[in-house]
Amino acid sequence: MRHFLSLMDWTAPELRALLDLATVYKRDPLKHMGSLAGRTLAMIFQKPSTRTRVSFEVGMNRLGGSAMFLSPNDMQLGRGETVEDTARVLSRYVDAIMARVFAHADVEKLTAGTVPVINGLSDRLHPCQALADVLTLRQRFGDERGVELAYVGDGNNVCHSLINASARFSFPIRVGTPRGYEPDAGIVAEARRQGAKVTLTNDPVEAVRGARAVYTDVWASMGQESQAGERRGIFDAFRVDGRLFAYAAADAIFLHCLPAHRGDEVTDEVIDGPRSAVLDQAENRVHTEQALLYTLLRGG
Ligand code: CP
Ligand code: NVA
Repeated sequence: MRHFLSLMDWTAPELRALLDLATVYKRDPLKHMGSLAGRTLAMIFQKPSTRTRVSFEVGMNRLGGSAMFLSPNDMQLGRGETVEDTARVLSRYVDAIMARVFAHADVEKLTAGTVPVINGLSDRLHPCQALADVLTLRQRFGDERGVELAYVGDGNNVCHSLINASARFSFPIRVGTPRGYEPDAGIVAEARRQGAKVTLTNDPVEAVRGARAVYTDVWASMGQESQAGERRGIFDAFRVDGRLFAYAAADAIFLHCLPAHRGDEVTDEVIDGPRSAVLDQAENRVHTEQALLYTLLRGG
């Protein structure tokens, strides 16, 4: 059974093929309309979502299938039914499961069922976001390979999947975080072992200098709201404002997975500026996820 829990589960050619198909869907969203007729995607959300929920539902609809939103509070999962039992039962009804979870282990437990599982964000990884991000690099620069990406801020789930993307799509990544907020050492080591060029620094200017794309994300992720005040002080020098962005290449683009906390990790000037590509990233979620759904459910 094929799953999509991490970019590292798929080979570079397979991932590049997903982006090729996503490019087809961007031009012709209804190209495979009807190919998933009668098929259903279950979507479990332990955390809120705008983009992930809507893009998966739209992607499924464009293929002729349907998507079902499930909140754990309304399911027996919220009353203690195990994740594995939930997965086994859902597998008797639906054709794939997409889940946004707190603990990454929960999305792994969903593979106890018999249908493909897609990670719609866990505390460890956000692989669907990284697919859309790399498609954005490809659209802006013609080819993602070799494009120098700077990620500044928290070494979180989004950062981890970008590091994985660096291994699979062959672009170097420089990660600038405050001390103590570096990405997971195991993820960095494995990505390097698989060919990623990852540079870690605690200096935001060193991370951004000369980069073709500057990426940031919230300083406190979902589930870390109580740390937001403390983090605001620690991350202050990592805000992507006009001054920090000016260290990037003259044609550099700005990236953010959204939602943004304007004034914290990014200023209005940068996120609303002419080099911001954040809405393309958001749009690319639907094209890449449509490609993922088609590939998992029809691709053989
Ligand atoms: N970027 C992203 O995953 O957004 P949502 O939280 O709105 O799904
Ligand atoms: N790092 C953020 C990403 C949101 C899409 C979070 O986990 O909340």
